[in-house]
Amino acid sequence: MNHAKISRFFHALLAVGLIGGSLAAQAQAVDVAAAEALLLSNKCAKCHSVDKKKDGPAYKVTASKYKGKADAEAKLFTHLTTAPTIEIDGVKEEHQKIKAKDDAAVKNLVNYILSR
Ligand code: HEC
Repeated sequence: MNHAKISRFFHALLAVGLIGGSLAAQAQAVDVAAAEALLLSNKCAKCHSVDKKKDGPAYKVTASKYKGKADAEAKLFTHLTTAPTIEIDGVKEEHQKIKAKDDAAVKNLVNYILSR
């Protein structure tokens, strides 16, 4: 390879690296272990599972309900942090408010649910 070719070769490599890097940064990286630990410590499994209906909807059902919706993360964040009124067997009650160390931990759980 002459100098010009070598230089083009390295520019191509660099471009691939940059594009690959920005795609990786865009995809929501979910910390699955942290999300599952948060579900456990909040006892969400009393009413939810990933794929079976309990008193609350399966996370898979919620994920498909919000699929492609731009406000999905915001909606679920609000759902988990503001104790909206829900109905179980005809009885109204407040949805459990999540206890988490910070907003980032709640958002990670929301993205875990949305990616089921
Ligand atoms: C006492 C039962 C109960 C507990 C405990 C509970 N949920 Fe729920 N949850 C429900 C019910 C019932 C609904 C359905 C509300 C509706 O559709 O009106 C629901 C809805 C949801 C939804 C869907 C909201 C939407 O906009 O579609 C998510 C996500 C969710 N819960 C997550 C959680 C998480 C995470 C926890 C633990 C912090 C939790 N829930 C604890 C009963 C419960």
